[in-house]
Formats: sequence, C-alpha cells, structure tokens
Amino acid sequence: MNYNFDRLIDRKGSGSIKYDKMSFFFGRDDLQPLWVADMDFATPDFILDAIKKRLEHPVLGYTMRQEGFFESYMRWARKRYRWKVSRQWLDFSPGVVGGLALSVLSMTGEGDKIIIQPPVYHPFFDVVKGNARQLIENPLQRDAEGNYRMDFDHMRSIIDPQTKMIIIANPHNPVGRVWRRDELEELAEIAVKHNLIILSDDIHADFIYKPNQYTPLASIDEAVAQQTVTVTSPSKTFNIAGLSTSIVVIPNENLRQKYRNKIKDMHLFLGNIFGNIAFETAYKKGEAWLEELLKYLQTNIDFVTGYLAEHIPEIKPVKPEGTFLMWLDFSGLNLPHDKVKDILINQAKLALNDGKSFGQNGENYFRLNIATPQSNLKTALEKMLVFNEF
Ligand SMILES: Cc1ncc(COP(=O)(O)O)c(C=O)c1O
Repeated sequence: MNYNFDRLIDRKGSGSIKYDKMSFFFGRDDLQPLWVADMDFATPDFILDAIKKRLEHPVLGYTMRQEGFFESYMRWARKRYRWKVSRQWLDFSPGVVGGLALSVLSMTGEGDKIIIQPPVYHPFFDVVKGNARQLIENPLQRDAEGNYRMDFDHMRSIIDPQTKMIIIANPHNPVGRVWRRDELEELAEIAVKHNLIILSDDIHADFIYKPNQYTPLASIDEAVAQQTVTVTSPSKTFNIAGLSTSIVVIPNENLRQKYRNKIKDMHLFLGNIFGNIAFETAYKKGEAWLEELLKYLQTNIDFVTGYLAEHIPEIKPVKPEGTFLMWLDFSGLNLPHDKVKDILINQAKLALNDGKSFGQNGENYFRLNIATPQSNLKTALEKMLVFNEF
C-alpha cells in the first residue's frame, strides 16, 4: 500500500458535522462518531497540493470552471464506467442534493407526484416535500435471501398521470445495493412507458465491491438516457464533500435547458475556486488512490462482518455491494428499536444513523460508516459487546 488509511486524524474542532455536531443530534458529544457519510481518511495529497498551489496566488476573486473540469469527468466516466458522456450534457451543481432539488424544481410542477424508495437517504424526502411535490413511496423489499429489491409490481400500481419523476440512488444509501443492469432495464422500461424522469443520484458510484458492477442508468440506451438526469460528484470518493461541487448529466436538451434556467434564476452557477480545482484534480489523478481505498474498505467490511458473526451474531449486517456504509439489522436482539438506540448512545457511546430516519422499513436498523481506520472500527465493535448483556 502506498497510502496510509490506518492514520488516526483528530477531526474534533475542525468544523466537522460528524464530530462537532453530535450533541445537537444525539444529545451528548462524548460518542464515537460513525454516522455522517464522509470518511475519516485524509483527502489525498494530490488534491491538497493543487489547492495549496492555487493559494500561492493572493487573489481569490470570482472564478470560472475551465474545460478541464468537465473533461476530467468525461474521461473518468468513460474509463471507469464505460460510459461515453458528451460535453454538452454536462452542467454544474452546488452539491448533489442541491442538484436533485434544482432538478425537481425545474422539471416538475407543484403537486406532481415523485416516487422514492425507502429506506433511503433522508434528503430525498426533503427535496420532494420541501418543494411542494407529492411524495409517493415504493418501499424496497427484502427477498428470502435477505437482498433488497425494487418492488416493480408495486411501482407499476402506484403510477398515475400525475406521477412525473422517480428518484433513485445508485448505489443505494443506506442498504448498499448496486443496481444490476437487468434491474435498471426494468426500471427504465417503466419510466419510458409512463414518461417519467428518473433522477439518479450516483454519488457513491466509485464505491463498488467486486464482483458487482456499476451501470449508469443513462448508459442503458438512448430512450432511457433521454429521461435520465444523473447527479454525481467526486466528493465522497476523495473526501472533499466540504467543497460542495458536483455535476449533472442531462442528455435531454429540453430538460437540460430547464435545469440551466433554474440554476441561472437562482444564481447558483458560480461555484468556488477550491471546489473546481479539487473536482478536476480528483478525476485526473485519483485512480490509483481509489483502488487502494477500495481494498482497504473491503477489509473493513470483512472485519465488521467477521467480528459480528463471531461475537454478536444477533446483529446482522446487510452485505454492501457498494458505498462505505453498512446497514445493520438489530432485530435478532428482540429489543424495541428505541431501546437499541438508547443502548447505542448511552451505553456503547456510539453515534450511528438511526434506521428510522431513512423512512419506512428502517425500524430495527442502524447505519454504520466504515470509512475509518480499522482500529476505530475495532473499538466501536468492542463497545457493541454491551448488547450481549441484553
Ligand atoms: C445518496 C447521497 N446523495 C447525496 C449525498 C450528499 O451530497 P451533497 O453533500 O453533495 O449534497 C449523500 C451524502 O451522504 C448521499 O449519501
């Protein structure tokens, strides 16, 4: 390994939400934080160096994105996802959730129905309800083997003429599914038939564990590309989420124009100097670093899985196919959800995301962020041994 992912970095006092906002969310701040989806690893040197170099120039005035910004993503998509993205499909977004909200606002109308599939990343609820659209839920189902599936029959049954959009996460946060090509094809068929826009949040697309393969929905065929808006960023991959710089991919000219008008009207297109530099540098120089990171994360997943199976078998992780998040099923403990939460916070002193915050079917689940040095995970799992007393 050329990079050191074992290094423990004290993030307290750095303005980190994960470390410095715990008392607000958990009622105390003496917890080990394993919640917010950023990583405890250092942002890679090649990105920090590019930012430092820019700081050698003393003026931080208005900035613009160079063509290299967009080209870096086009190359990355082609090389890593085998997806040929055209330059004219691309636009900027100040963060991925911002891109989702701008798409909802610009491409649907008030009162329109938008489908989401809980348990799912909680801001999906906000970008729909907060913008006065109707939220329609198509909960994911766990099959007999414990794998999460989209419920296509239910999806078909809830679509009506007011339904205009479906928002997916690929890979899916929090359950860690990487949607297979055949699943995306079925989804695409429904969307094309009913003229639904699919808003695909692919922020976790670089975190894929073998043998799973990420398929960009819009790469399936031209018809689905015309109805797909993909929002993504290197922000999770390279731990630069604090720079709020993302990209939208909109092959459909009409939808793209709507997006552009909205981002212009709201004056949100400027971006920031460091976000632009970090984005471009990440995609240009980041492959070797990412490959090592993925190996490290896989060992963390194996470590958590093995530890729980051996020491607390009542807590069952759902095997992640992608993301650096593990969806832990506590139902084997036969304790009420709120009791588990209380033990996690007040006895184990751990801050995990509450499964219920991801909506329907989140009861008895908590989400563990494994993008941290393995010694941290070991400490956290040892604290969880307290569950053996119940
Ligand atoms: C699925 C998903 N989308 C978006 C985000 C956040 O994106 P941003 O910070 O760029 O708005 C997260 C962060 O956890 C996420 O998991």
